[in-house]
Amino acid sequence: MVDLLVFDSLPIQSYQGAYEAHFSANMFSEINATISEKTHFIVDENIAKLYQNELKSCLSAPSILFIHASEESKSLEKIPYYIKHLIDQGVRRHHTLIAIGGGIVQDITAFLATVLMRGIDWHFYPTTLLAQADSCIGSKSSINAYGIKNILGTFMPPKKIIIDTQILETLSEIDFRSGIGEILKIHLIEGLHALEAISNDYGMLKKDKKILQKYIYASLKMKKKIIEEDEFDKKIRNILNYGHSFGHAIESATQYAIPHGIAVTLGIDMANYLSLNLGELNQANFDRIHKTLAINYQGFEKHPVSLDTFLNAISKDKKNSDNKLKLILNNDVGKVEIIEQENNLFFKNVCERYLNEVRC
Ligand SMILES: NC(=O)c1ccc[n+]([C@@H]2O[C@H](COP(=O)([O-])OP(=O)(O)OC[C@H]3O[C@@H](n4cnc5c(N)ncnc54)[C@H](O)[C@@H]3O)[C@@H](O)[C@H]2O)c1
Ligand SMILES: [Zn+2]
Repeated sequence: MVDLLVFDSLPIQSYQGAYEAHFSANMFSEINATISEKTHFIVDENIAKLYQNELKSCLSAPSILFIHASEESKSLEKIPYYIKHLIDQGVRRHHTLIAIGGGIVQDITAFLATVLMRGIDWHFYPTTLLAQADSCIGSKSSINAYGIKNILGTFMPPKKIIIDTQILETLSEIDFRSGIGEILKIHLIEGLHALEAISNDYGMLKKDKKILQKYIYASLKMKKKIIEEDEFDKKIRNILNYGHSFGHAIESATQYAIPHGIAVTLGIDMANYLSLNLGELNQANFDRIHKTLAINYQGFEKHPVSLDTFLNAISKDKKNSDNKLKLILNNDVGKVEIIEQENNLFFKNVCERYLNEVRC
């Protein structure tokens, strides 16, 4: 049965002009309608297998590139292969790349769209909750190089985004919760009232598409305010990195065994624990937020994270300067601040207590 749509579209202003995120009840018919000699499909391999009937016409389109959704696939070393494929398929300046997949396919396509002939159009059909509720807007592409995650990147928004929540039916439970991690992040930035609302509805997100659409739309709307003010991440957009310095260090210390949004969920909790120890967040608020975050990172509360590897990884965060860590803290919830923190014994003890006692 096709779900009714709660929302239609959300326009976003960008340096490239305005683009829109549309909610759709049948992305496959929209995809099939775009097939032509001027479109080049870049498709997540799992989506191609799971939806081979729905994507039948698309899968036999003249130009199609399948992507195995892994961090290795979005590395600089793989880019020449993708470029060769598109050149072999006769890509031209007025052609369009069509991305169907999650954040991995998005990052690859957006990067290719920026560098090919100094910029060609691309469209995005996000198939993960993380991509639908967060990464699809904001223009960023991120590529790994020489083992460093997201060290390369560009700003190139898609010309259009089509969000169909029906496709999330096949998403794994862990990848679903990874998307919820980013939704929780933006709601926490908005304030405690926003967190309260989603915490109350948490159990319904997987069961009720209309409720899920409501939170996807709300998350995009909250992110829109920030990226329209600072698309190039010079000032206020930094606050979207709440939980990310800790989260990226957790991802790195676990060789990416923990999906991004789950690591961010842990990272938010860890940032809040630092705020608590700095006397900036009270115990009642820490506990209240921890309760919801702990449900979302369930299953990873005992995942081994080596403290030394974690501290080494966080010290290399690209936001740091002058040997100080630059961290985003949400003191008092809704009061998001960028603070400088020495990588000292106090910080080490806070991280150690969090990983060994608080998280469990
Ligand atoms: N550019 C940005 O703004 C931005 C923002 C956040 C994250 N990212 C990047 O995105 C990547 C993570 O992306 P992600 O979490 O969206 O997931 P993903 O693209 O890594 O996909 C996760 C898994 O889900 C599978 N999958 C995708 N859609 C599915 C569906 N509908 N049904 C069944 N399986 C499905 C994929 O094949 C893969 O196995 C990371 O590399 C991260 O750095 C980019
Ligand atoms: Zn993120």
